[in-house]
Amino acid sequence: MEKLSADIKNKMKTKIQKLPKCELHLHIEGTLEPELMLELAQKNHIDLPYSDVEAIRIAYQFNNLQSFLDIYYAGAEVLIEESDFERLTWEYLLKCHKDNVVHTEIFFDPQTHTSRGINFTTVITGIHKALKRGEAELGITSKVIMSFLRHLSAEEAMQTLEAALPYKEWITGVGLDSSEYGNPPEKFQAVFDRAIEKGFLCVAHAGEEGDASYISGAIDFLHVQRIDHGVRCIEDESLMKRLASEQIPLTVCPLSNVKLKVFQSMQEHNILKLLDKGLVVTVNSDDPAYFGGYVNDNFLALYEFLDMNERQLRQLVINSFKASFLDKKQKDFWIEKVNSG
Ligand code: HPA
Ligand code: ZN
Repeated sequence: MEKLSADIKNKMKTKIQKLPKCELHLHIEGTLEPELMLELAQKNHIDLPYSDVEAIRIAYQFNNLQSFLDIYYAGAEVLIEESDFERLTWEYLLKCHKDNVVHTEIFFDPQTHTSRGINFTTVITGIHKALKRGEAELGITSKVIMSFLRHLSAEEAMQTLEAALPYKEWITGVGLDSSEYGNPPEKFQAVFDRAIEKGFLCVAHAGEEGDASYISGAIDFLHVQRIDHGVRCIEDESLMKRLASEQIPLTVCPLSNVKLKVFQSMQEHNILKLLDKGLVVTVNSDDPAYFGGYVNDNFLALYEFLDMNERQLRQLVINSFKASFLDKKQKDFWIEKVNSG
């Protein structure tokens, strides 16, 4: 019996591996693995409160979003030079290659770095160089989404938007992350209006720790094309119907949600319920170095704990391409590959 279930699990693992996939919710700062954190700390002479990888992993016990954010912002302090951002991004692309992720749309948080005196140019240039190399050497396409930290003021977000304008060609969209409580979408309405005027596409984290009203707020005030997380939509039946009928995608992050106690266990996660209600839900890793897994690990968790079947797996993967910022031709190309794979 034990042998049989291991065999079945391996078969599902192979199926997950073989499908070309797309990731839409990934914070590049959240891909900083403990080994690289220690290496960069030493190179850049940054004091860390951890002596080794084991101590870092032990510190990664979170009981909510804020307890994670405190550690995540502290970890990002080892990123100083352009080459650090390039290396960070390159290491993530190698993980994509391993998982057969062929397209990725990554967030970066400029304010986490500019607030420490790092130039915007340093950050975006390092990320951009790695992404170009990823396309040339690994065949991975990508888009960049600049996220505003919602615990900071709208004025600071506006200044960040202005700083990004010379790099518009490298940045497809803007997003909103960090602590939701007390920082509702409407706080950033003017910033998003200006971003739209300048041609950026918009997304926002909503309905992770904030309630369902944050999701409708992001749609109505910020005019987002997709919602990051959004799992608390389940608390509002009419909102769920709206998300399904308007096909507004949710970039869901199962391992993240369990680590940050949005759900107490993976068995309680609602992603497959939302999928079966016709919502465009997708699977993503959020901050994989902190939450214990990259995209394939997230899919595997859905199989292990929620009995995800092959039809659901395929639909989730197709949804990601559908919800991406790729053009129609590229979407059709990958969806056809998924259907025939
Ligand atoms: N939520 C909010 N802010 C974040 C997250 C998240 O999941 N990851 C990194 N910043
Ligand atoms: Zn996120």
